[in-house]
Amino acid sequence: MSLKSQLLAGAASFALLAAEVNGATPEHHGVALPSYHYGAPIRVECMQRNFETGEHIENDHHEIEWAPFPSCNETGKPLEFHYGIETEQNCTIEFVSDPFFHLLEFYIHSDAPLSCRLPARPEPHVEVIGEKPYQMEYIPLVFALAGTLQLSHMHVSTHMNVLLHSTPKHHVQRHDSGVLDSGIAYSTSPLSHMEGSQTRRLVIGDPLPLSFSVRWFPTPALPKTEGHVEWQGMGGHIYASTVFYSLFSFMAGIVMAGVYFFGVVLPKRLRGRGLGGATPLGQGLNGGGVGNGWGYTKRAMD
Ligand SMILES: *[C@@H]1O[C@H](CO)[C@@H](O)[C@H](O)[C@H]1NC(C)=O
Ligand SMILES: *[C@@H]1O[C@H](CO)[C@@H](O)[C@H](O)[C@H]1NC(C)=O
Repeated sequence: MSLKSQLLAGAASFALLAAEVNGATPEHHGVALPSYHYGAPIRVECMQRNFETGEHIENDHHEIEWAPFPSCNETGKPLEFHYGIETEQNCTIEFVSDPFFHLLEFYIHSDAPLSCRLPARPEPHVEVIGEKPYQMEYIPLVFALAGTLQLSHMHVSTHMNVLLHSTPKHHVQRHDSGVLDSGIAYSTSPLSHMEGSQTRRLVIGDPLPLSFSVRWFPTPALPKTEGHVEWQGMGGHIYASTVFYSLFSFMAGIVMAGVYFFGVVLPKRLRGRGLGGATPLGQGLNGGGVGNGWGYTKRAMD
């Protein structure tokens, strides 16, 4: 491939991505919707269930009732995660009441899941008089709590992995903002009842010490190396932060190719024969903005 065709290929993918960014920026009444900043708190809400039947509870409008996850003794607040932050965190529910114990039985038998949800993005502060207010969107987060039930007590696997995905976007910095795509939480080692494992024998009135290992993925996809899904084996590691960073480097490369094309190659060709409006970006050259979200303008490049 000649240098010229490589640059053209780079510019073409750049244009595609720019179009994607333009098309995908969600708006409400013409105002762009907000994203979570790195570290922003994301509260967990759970479906309210009848502790005798396990069925969900509806309000008068036949809408499902949601309430914050029980409060954690560690923070004095309902459980929350923080956007992009990979961590180990504890949440001890101080007192397992009789109704909550029965609900735990439903969860552990999977008669009813511990169904929770996370707001996909922060609440926008957009109010247009006479227009319908923004309807919050949520992603489901099921806590697949495992354990075993006995006559007088239960065993709960209290350590849970929490995997959270962002919607794909073009990361311009290492700790960029974003929007939630999906997630799941599950108990680890449900078959282990050995001493030292994180299984808790529970009766009514006990505290329930939950612990969470929270990991983030920058896209809905699971980590890959060089485009291939690879079994990392025992002892191999791949961290989501590596993926965040690689994606960033990859995007930076494409942006630089685009910058070179639009800043150096294209102006020369334009002087030569004039492309009119028939450019990959359509509006990019006439409007003066080439970056479309990256903060570059043609003026800055010339
Ligand atoms: C969570 O609790 C465990 C057991 O009590 C403790 O060893 C660990 O240090 C705690 N972790 C954090 C992040 O507080
Ligand atoms: C919860 O916190 C309170 C006050 O901080 C403390 O007295 C209590 O022992 C804690 N309970 C558990 C189960 O850790």
